[in-house]
Amino acid sequence: MEKETMLEVNDLHVYYDNIHALKGISLKVKKGEVVSLIGANGAGKTTTLQTISGLIPSKMGKIIFEGEYITKTPCHLICKKGIAQVPEGRRIFARLLVKDNLKLGAFTVNDTPENLEKDRAKFYEVFPRMAERKNQMAGTLSGGEQQMLAMGRALMSRPKLLILDEPSMGLSPLFVKEIFSVIKRLKESGVTILLVEQNAKMALSVADYAYVIETGRITMEGKAKDLLNNPDIKKAYLGA
Ligand SMILES: Nc1ncnc2c1ncn2[C@@H]1O[C@H](COP(=O)(O)OP(=O)(O)OP(=O)(O)O)[C@@H](O)[C@H]1O
Ligand SMILES: [Mg+2]
Repeated sequence: MEKETMLEVNDLHVYYDNIHALKGISLKVKKGEVVSLIGANGAGKTTTLQTISGLIPSKMGKIIFEGEYITKTPCHLICKKGIAQVPEGRRIFARLLVKDNLKLGAFTVNDTPENLEKDRAKFYEVFPRMAERKNQMAGTLSGGEQQMLAMGRALMSRPKLLILDEPSMGLSPLFVKEIFSVIKRLKESGVTILLVEQNAKMALSVADYAYVIETGRITMEGKAKDLLNNPDIKKAYLGA
């Protein structure tokens, strides 16, 4: 059976003043899938994600989430509709406690404190080392722990679509492995994920489908498995 399309981006154009950063990006994310966007520095990956999240306006093109146009929807309403983004560089609240960072992630969720507490407990189950550090200031966490916290904060909004911008950046190999195993677990639990990564090998091995972005355009797309074995991809992105 064909899976339902959750997110569709159609011919998206974005400018920073006179810089034409996105020159017609089109992509689809199907329900339950992990879709990766890979590309070099400055290709337009973050711009694509931030435009989807409503943080950057587009000049042209359409963004459709669960059948609804969200192209001009402000970011706080997009979050309410079920899209949560973990930004590049994490952006956790360094001077707040770990547990309060998580609480802030739930601010769009209208639920009882008990249920929010259950969400937090679920997160601590996935990331036991966060449980040990729940009363610690977030700024004192290591880079990998901050990434986990940023993911947890996003998950507290109970997103249908989780958007991750370079979650493995700057992390030690051990943490990179852990982050990717969490991504796999989240997928298994039914979260749909749009993942931007420079670590193309990891990204393609966890993804169902992938897009290659070069200077604001999609230059290749396909099943992640096929891209992993594609000679051009191997040469350009997999260090072969
Ligand atoms: N705030 C900004 N003002 C002007 N130009 C910008 C701004 N942000 C990004 N750009 C430009 O837009 C293009 C795309 O940038 P973007 O950050 O989306 O790339 P990226 O693929 O995420 O790169 P990286 O892998 O380094 O994170 C680049 O040429 C960048 O210089
Ligand atoms: Mg980026």
